[in-house]
Amino acid sequence: MSLWWGWPAAIFGALTALGIYDLLQTRRAVSRNYPVLAHLRYFLESIGPEIRQYFIEADTDERPFSREQRSVVYQRAKNVLDKRPFGTLQNVYAEGYEWINHSVAPTEPDPKTFRVTIGRDCPLPYRASVFNISAMSFGSLSANAILALNKGAAMGGFYHDTGEGSISRYHTRHGGDLMWEIGSGYFGCRDDHGRFDEALFRDNAAREQVRLIEIKLSQGAKPGHGGILPAAKVTPEIAEARHVPMGEDVVSPPAHSAFHTPIELMHFITRLREASGGKPVGFKLAVGHPWEWFAIVKAMLETEELPDFIVVDGGEGGTGAAPLEFINRLGMPLDDALLLVHNTLVGAGLRDRLHIGAAGKVTSSFKIARTMALGADWCNAARGFMFALGCIQSLSCHTDHCPTGVATQDPYRAGALDVKDKSVRVANFHANTLKALAGLLSAAGLEQPWQIRPSHLLRRTADGEVRSFDELYPFLEAGELLRRTPGHGVYQRYWPRASGRRFAPAA
Ligand SMILES: Cc1cc2nc3c(=O)[nH]c(=O)nc-3n(C[C@H](O)[C@H](O)[C@H](O)COP(=O)(O)O)c2cc1C
Ligand code: SF4
Repeated sequence: MSLWWGWPAAIFGALTALGIYDLLQTRRAVSRNYPVLAHLRYFLESIGPEIRQYFIEADTDERPFSREQRSVVYQRAKNVLDKRPFGTLQNVYAEGYEWINHSVAPTEPDPKTFRVTIGRDCPLPYRASVFNISAMSFGSLSANAILALNKGAAMGGFYHDTGEGSISRYHTRHGGDLMWEIGSGYFGCRDDHGRFDEALFRDNAAREQVRLIEIKLSQGAKPGHGGILPAAKVTPEIAEARHVPMGEDVVSPPAHSAFHTPIELMHFITRLREASGGKPVGFKLAVGHPWEWFAIVKAMLETEELPDFIVVDGGEGGTGAAPLEFINRLGMPLDDALLLVHNTLVGAGLRDRLHIGAAGKVTSSFKIARTMALGADWCNAARGFMFALGCIQSLSCHTDHCPTGVATQDPYRAGALDVKDKSVRVANFHANTLKALAGLLSAAGLEQPWQIRPSHLLRRTADGEVRSFDELYPFLEAGELLRRTPGHGVYQRYWPRASGRRFAPAA
């Protein structure tokens, strides 16, 4: 007997069952009103980002990284041709267009020399590359992603920031240099109550691979947020790395318990430097209230105890997961934050006694050059290195369904990321970006990235005029804040009221 009608009958039966289910369920009103058909809408909605990304967005639309920005990372990571034909896709007469002026006397810079010595006065200073891997914990990234990043860092001679999830077994297998990040949860150096434990700190800090120690005050994408890793997600490896028990929620409080005032922060930095045997110690922050930042600088002046470095994170920075309001509406953008940090330190006469790193959508040599012109000594990238690992910006890091195995703890998905192949891409991306930076410097007639000044960069403004960065942004003179309160806004209002004894301003 012919069964030709079997398939249509099965499909009809399944659709009828789905329709009955839609009518009886109470969670989705659209499905009750439009049984079966509503699923088509949900399906189209679920693939909307991909449709927009593949078919609708222009190469230069930033969401948050444009196709052009991602492509250049993929090409540099794969070591394939990163050239473009025909001419720029940018509108060079549009407001906000930026460029670097070139020279008639090009130079021949050597990217191998693009290194900065952090913690010059420490017994164990570190010679860092001008481009490194920004903080991303094991837990937000997969084991294979951490392995590939660290192996790439070892191959290319740059550092890999552990993120606040501390040092996991995947950070140590390949021996790449580590910046060990310590957040408010003190993972890897905490007692049973979640407070800082100096004995455990000494053990981890003594590892040869740990070259720098970074206290995390805040992160641009979610400043002041803290976090909870639910007990169900605490794997044996995560528990081991963080020194936390299995079967309990892991809490990162919004604030640190090891210090409560700016002066106590300086004492804590000094304590960590001594307990680490003299490794460079600094902090990472997204700038919030300017008076709190001023209070930190005043604490440096009052105690004469300084961090070896400060990493400034822009509000445009990334995260594994954070509430929309935090991602969109908290944290000063990188340019403004970096200028404030750099300028205050210049004005306080401290700028040449410590180094500044910066992170916030740095994926190209132009962005490195531009960030250094605004006051950074080096740059870090988080999402840039995720692209080098193969991230396709599907924006589902928080779901554990990462299609590329980068940001997931699902062993099957993470297993798709080949450590050998991707570590080479990580090293290539770093090397080719510095090669491109050397090219830019050469064209501008400079030898070193630290020679890029605000006057080398130009921007077209709203009135169609062209202004160099030194005309656009206010820059303080060395020691200016020690002599008088500068006339412009934020310093005039808050510098006199800031004190190293408290974060809040005087009334
Ligand atoms: C998946 C992911 C995890 C992150 N985890 C941390 C973290 O543990 N600690 C931290 O200080 N910053 C963390 N960040 C922020 C980055 O280190 C970086 O400061 C920020 O994303 C800006 O750099 P980018 O624009 O190059 O991504 C994370 C970012 C991402 C994308
Ligand atoms: S591919 Fe998607 S889920 Fe995976 S890391 Fe990239 S943005 Fe996150």
